[in-house]
Amino acid sequence: MALRFEVLGRFNRARAAQLTLPHFVCQTPLFMPVGTQGTIKGLTTDQLEEIGCQIILGNTYHLALRPTSELIDELGGLHKFINWPRALLTDSGGFQMVSLLHLADITEKGVTFQSPVDGKPMLLTPEESIQIQNRIGADIIMALDDVVRTTITGPRIEEAMYRTLRWVDRSHKRPHEQNLFGIVQGGLDPVLRDICVRGLVDRNLPGYAIGGLAGGEDKDSFWRVVAQCTAALPEDKPRYVMGVGYPLDIVVCSALGADMYDCVYPTRTARFGTALVPEGVLKLKHNAMVNDTRPIDPTCACMVCKNYTRAYIHCLVTKDAMGSQLLSYHNLYYMLQLSRNLHSSIVEGRFPDFPRVMSLNGSAMPW
Ligand code: GUN
Ligand code: ZN
Repeated sequence: MALRFEVLGRFNRARAAQLTLPHFVCQTPLFMPVGTQGTIKGLTTDQLEEIGCQIILGNTYHLALRPTSELIDELGGLHKFINWPRALLTDSGGFQMVSLLHLADITEKGVTFQSPVDGKPMLLTPEESIQIQNRIGADIIMALDDVVRTTITGPRIEEAMYRTLRWVDRSHKRPHEQNLFGIVQGGLDPVLRDICVRGLVDRNLPGYAIGGLAGGEDKDSFWRVVAQCTAALPEDKPRYVMGVGYPLDIVVCSALGADMYDCVYPTRTARFGTALVPEGVLKLKHNAMVNDTRPIDPTCACMVCKNYTRAYIHCLVTKDAMGSQLLSYHNLYYMLQLSRNLHSSIVEGRFPDFPRVMSLNGSAMPW
């Protein structure tokens, strides 16, 4: 195993830990910005270090298409290719194909999809996904999973869960320095989730992810699945909730014992002119911003809030790439600061104050 997970503090089910990976020592709860093609849209790797980013996520599917995993390997791996000295995680590819390409077809062999490059059918097997991820060289790699939306019902959910377990057994031949995480599937069915958690735990992997969520299910169902999975996963291994999420979701999932998160939300919403602030969101396109000389968030210590006014960013938004770059910078800083605050509040026994600190008083908390 090429990771160490040491719990530094707990509050009820929440934990703050140190996760030692080959390229970086990370503190959890941990937010991972998504760099689909290896880059976080609008930020340089220097800026990511400056805002305290510890690990970024890349997608096997996109990187395999361009620039291809063979080229990344030839040029010394993804860390070197994108000039990122800290930790990297790659997602296995199945989810992206299913969510991005409606033509994807899943069989026991793997996922078949139409190549967006030349339209030819291509097959991604669990073995190939690992091989590609080996070439990319991330600190954490994910086993290929069979993903179905949580909003569907019937035997397909059960088939996907058992297939996900069988595919983990085909995800071997990994070099020692990479950590393979398995993904819990099973939709909203507690029996299927339980079988999947047990199956993965039996396989003694370095870490576990909870998948198939944030796909349109209601919040109660989402929290129930996370609570069930975190309760059944080992105490001494990291737990990663995939595709999550909003600031509130991260606070709730951390209270339920989850450690890692990834989401395109902060950077995507930035490109639509929206900033994350303690009160919720601030729409920079709004006319009220025209002559507002305050920073995005007067309580924020980021470079953007120290240097620029809402009026200036309002003027840039939709007109100049700098607008979404500045907003992405602030939004990622906000999410990373949220993770750091979660970590320190758990270590220092202040976690119960967290909803108040975040101005989340009005939100219904599930504990
Ligand atoms: N990203 C968000 N959800 C999922 C999931 O269920 N599986 C994978 N592989 N990636 C995800
Ligand atoms: Zn800021």
